[in-house]
Amino acid sequence: MKIAILPGDGIGPEIIAEAIQVLQVLNDRFALGAEWELAAIGGAGFDEAGDPYPETTRRLARACDAVLLGAVGGPKWEGLEKPKRPEAGLLAIRADLGLYANYRPAKVFSQLVDQSTLKPEVIDGVDLLVVRELVSGVYFGQPRGIETVDGERRGFNTMAYTEEEVTRIARVAFSAARLRRGKVCSVDKANVLDCSELWRETVCRLHAAEFSDIELSHMYVDNAAMQLIRNPKQFDVIVTSNLFGDILSDEASMLTGSIGMLPSASIGDDHALYEPIHGSAPDIAGQDRANPLATILSVAMMLRFSLQRADLAAKVEQAVEQTLNDGVRTADLAGGTSGCRAMGAAVCTRLEALA
Ligand code: IPM
Ligand code: MG
Repeated sequence: MKIAILPGDGIGPEIIAEAIQVLQVLNDRFALGAEWELAAIGGAGFDEAGDPYPETTRRLARACDAVLLGAVGGPKWEGLEKPKRPEAGLLAIRADLGLYANYRPAKVFSQLVDQSTLKPEVIDGVDLLVVRELVSGVYFGQPRGIETVDGERRGFNTMAYTEEEVTRIARVAFSAARLRRGKVCSVDKANVLDCSELWRETVCRLHAAEFSDIELSHMYVDNAAMQLIRNPKQFDVIVTSNLFGDILSDEASMLTGSIGMLPSASIGDDHALYEPIHGSAPDIAGQDRANPLATILSVAMMLRFSLQRADLAAKVEQAVEQTLNDGVRTADLAGGTSGCRAMGAAVCTRLEALA
């Protein structure tokens, strides 16, 4: 069992260090038997090899059972041409490993109900899953670029989905719903976009053919953005395209009080990558102020999806719950005073006690 660990930039190395402590406890106390190797990605990849997704990292990621990633990006690399920027490294690894299905669960921890900007009665009990398509859509569509037409510059991108791309992501969402509350809401903009019209037709076709036991609804993305705030408990699984999923998953994270709590899994046919949904937070990097819980919860997702250890995933989640019950809070959680290292250590102590 081998894991490629890619800390990345900003707070990436700090939150990953705490995730490694958790893996170490799982090895020492629970006989997980995992090995790992670190490699550079994002700005760190550019600094090391002139490439945000270096060839050595690519080879390691392809050879491992799973990839654990911190975060990429920072002001230091903002002036670089687009293909060299940290974000390009993230998009490249997603495309290279064929990680088309991005699972972004947003579950409200009852201990944190008061941290949200929304009323407790609106968010208490929220437990939804955004299934975001991750390797196609307007992020990757061709043609794209900036051209000069009649002396004026014009930027353009292409939003495109094939039936096959929609079918495979819809299948992921329906299958996930079967293990949850049996509801899928497909989010599109079919009242305006041709791409969305095909998306909706394709989702309906798969539903009728293979998943008629699932309750399927459709929502335009503008309405979905509103409904997520108005009544988030109506959602079980949301399935949507790359761009809409990027936006709605950030919105959904705020239901839980802090984006520092949300893990994710990106799954393809042959590879899987786990990362917190938040960014590299350069403003607090190196200050021991980041919340490592999203990364630690990403380790739990990795245990469940890639390492076939749902039992240990549950233990990690339980240790996180207990840490929150005991009132340990990083700064993002209503101005808590614990640092990143203290939060990581607190989780490890509780995990050890579960052995
Ligand atoms: C995310 C991020 C990335 C995305 C960026 C960093 C390229 O926002 O994972 O949601 O847009 O997909
Ligand atoms: Mg995003």
